[in-house]
Amino acid sequence: MSIKILGIESSCDETAAAVVSDGLDVVSNVVASQIDIHKKYGGVVPELASREHLRQIVPVVREALSQAGMHLHELDAIAVTQGPGLVGALLVGITYGKTLAAALRKPLIPVNHLEGHVHAVFLEAHRAHRAPRFPAVCLIVSGGHTVLYEVSTPDNSGLFRYRKIGQTRDDAAGEAYDKVAKLLALGYPGGPILDRLAAANPASAAQFASAGHATNATPPPVKFGLTKTRGNPLDFSFSGLKTAVLYHLREHPEYSEQIHSREAALGRGENFYDALLPLCDAQTLALVREFQRSVVRTLIDRTMAAAEQISAESILVSGGVAANSELRSEFEKHSTAAGLEVFFPSRALSTDNAAMIAAAAYPRFRACQFASTSLEPHPSLALT
Ligand code: KG4
Ligand code: ZN
Repeated sequence: MSIKILGIESSCDETAAAVVSDGLDVVSNVVASQIDIHKKYGGVVPELASREHLRQIVPVVREALSQAGMHLHELDAIAVTQGPGLVGALLVGITYGKTLAAALRKPLIPVNHLEGHVHAVFLEAHRAHRAPRFPAVCLIVSGGHTVLYEVSTPDNSGLFRYRKIGQTRDDAAGEAYDKVAKLLALGYPGGPILDRLAAANPASAAQFASAGHATNATPPPVKFGLTKTRGNPLDFSFSGLKTAVLYHLREHPEYSEQIHSREAALGRGENFYDALLPLCDAQTLALVREFQRSVVRTLIDRTMAAAEQISAESILVSGGVAANSELRSEFEKHSTAAGLEVFFPSRALSTDNAAMIAAAAYPRFRACQFASTSLEPHPSLALT
């Protein structure tokens, strides 16, 4: 008989529930995003997030069970994100998970959100009949985190061992995307739209260029170097890059008119790629491309250095920014050149979801690592 775990995730701005079988097969996966609620503020508003989690948690769990064709009593355990994350948001998932576990008399398993992101990679690898080899370097890169871990398997329990070997000193990479998108009036979240604008390369490039748009031949209006940090060479820093974009925009008033027109478009609810692309001229698109190039180069530079340092057998990349097209293609290139395999979750499993929480809980279920009803949120929970 397979072990079916219900995962619940509510650490930030996604209310999610999923059923995963034996830690590797996703039976159902439901995510209710709060983007529409937070986008007018250009970032997650913690109080609004908690309130929305309260509204969504019951229907989302019901939907996850319905998609799995299961009843609550058929579950083997309930897994819930304990941290890191927003305390009020975590509290909603934890309280619901605890209540469910107590009412059903099933074990409750607390999961570290970051460990969830690691397991998202394994869910996808399993689906593709692939298996990452250890030790692995794992880059978790999202709106809240940019961190490098050495991941190893001390025994055959399925439990991983983590050693943090690099982290951001200030902003996370996803946060830099979101802030730069805000400066450029490109909506929230910034990652997906900047990703597409950086790749904007229409079929008729010449026609596009004559209309004042960038082609990939348009030189960057400014050059951003690799972001540097003192001390640990595997650490990251992205706030300087965001500030460099800010100064560049201040020094070049020619961006203002288009920024205003995009602000007006966002005000009309036109926050999607097809509406915003025609409002971006050659210089803006080239700036976006240069920003992304700098982020991607920095992430790859540190990760490849980490892989060499620990003699990694594979590279794992997870978190919202792992959905980025250029990051994926550049990682493929660099890892192939280094003779290493790189693994990503699917785009749906890159961003926050509960399948990764249920997957991470499975080895803990087997090791009987259960929580009591006194489980509390841990907003800065470390992964060790
Ligand atoms: O993992 P996630 O859903 O939530 C956190 O734990 O933060 O990541 C969300 C972040 C946001 O900052 C968003 O802008 C970024 O991931 N993101 C992307 C892309 N898709 C989402 N960044 C770059 N390229 C993308 N395609
Ligand atoms: Zn996350």
